[in-house]
Amino acid sequence: MDALPVNGAAGPLPLYRARLAGGDILPDPAQALAVERLQDLWRRLTTYEPPTSGNGHHFLARLWPRRSAEDMVAPNGLYLVGEVGRGKSMLMDLFFSSVPLARKRRVHFDRFMQDVHARLHAAAALHQDPIPPLADALLTEAVLLCFDELEIGDVADALLLGRLFEALFARGVIMVATSNTFPDDLFKDRPGHDAFLPFIAVLKRHLDLLVIEGVRDWRRERLARMSIWNVPADRRARGVLDAAFAELADARPATRTLEVMGRRLIVRQAADGVARFSFSELCEQPLGPGDYLALAVHFPTVLLDAVPRLDAEHFDAARRFITLIDILYDHRVKLVASAAAQPDALYPEGEGAAAFRRTASRLIEMQTPEYLALPHLT
Ligand SMILES: Nc1ncnc2c1ncn2[C@@H]1O[C@H](COP(=O)(O)OP(=O)(O)OP(=O)(O)O)[C@@H](O)[C@H]1O
Ligand SMILES: [Mg+2]
Repeated sequence: MDALPVNGAAGPLPLYRARLAGGDILPDPAQALAVERLQDLWRRLTTYEPPTSGNGHHFLARLWPRRSAEDMVAPNGLYLVGEVGRGKSMLMDLFFSSVPLARKRRVHFDRFMQDVHARLHAAAALHQDPIPPLADALLTEAVLLCFDELEIGDVADALLLGRLFEALFARGVIMVATSNTFPDDLFKDRPGHDAFLPFIAVLKRHLDLLVIEGVRDWRRERLARMSIWNVPADRRARGVLDAAFAELADARPATRTLEVMGRRLIVRQAADGVARFSFSELCEQPLGPGDYLALAVHFPTVLLDAVPRLDAEHFDAARRFITLIDILYDHRVKLVASAAAQPDALYPEGEGAAAFRRTASRLIEMQTPEYLALPHLT
């Protein structure tokens, strides 16, 4: 969506109003408050004169001495925090699309960290301290960084995060982030929490907290209207899953990599907490409970294409499918699928059919409004 002026106005607020007016989204008082704050930041950004080089030097200041001092100071960014499905990612995306800067980047936080590690690895041979040159390079690419789903996964990142973010803010980078976790609670109650205190402090200094206190989980409401188990797995069912993906995730599907016990698990289609797989990708490959657990923890929603009829001859696939469903169920992952048959008829006889009865029963329960309303367990 472009940030075209609406009645002479621009920014996230008119975009939000246009989506409301179009019936695309419904009124939500918490979002209405949040979008005002994003609009304020947007306004500050339209006059902000970003530094062009490291250490916050303003190359342009010499060319345009008329610029006010205020425009040289980086405004604080925003940290959108709240429960799942409240519209944090949607609001950040509206904001991002409306900012008329070329140097901006919107990225999932995990993806950003993978990129940072790869670049640090490459730079380690060239620089004694690779963080300042990395921060310079990041500034050249983006003055505005928007992070979706900021969470901390690895205690080994503590020092790096503190120093890198300090360096980025010193260079005038502005950040907006979404998260389910308040800054003070990042990595809380886990060994090594203290190591993150400098990072948390710098984050709080440069990002204002924006709590989205909405009461409606919009993702769940959308899910409740969806067709969950789609038989047969034909073109129509594929279309239902395409539509489900588009409805549950605003971002386009992209590849994500999860680290599972030192291995990499490639998720070819993922966005906004939704991941899509074919049955053969998940159950006809040498994957095990560790992989399924990583998926179940990372993704509140999984779309699964083309579950076939199972039989004893393909017992490996059936066994994996049973494990997969057990783990998804335990973590209250919401599953939207297409299949050759209803759950009860997927594996009627042969070795393992008895074990499959539990799976079928879970698959049926996973379609109920009660299950769909349960919070995801990570
Ligand atoms: N006001 C609304 N009316 C209808 N649908 C909405 C509204 N706000 C958000 N949605 C939709 O609800 C879904 C969830 O929104 P979004 O992904 O932005 O939530 P989130 O707060 O980022 O959740 P999470 O914490 O799980 O990442 C999206 O499909 C989004 O388009
Ligand atoms: Mg989100």
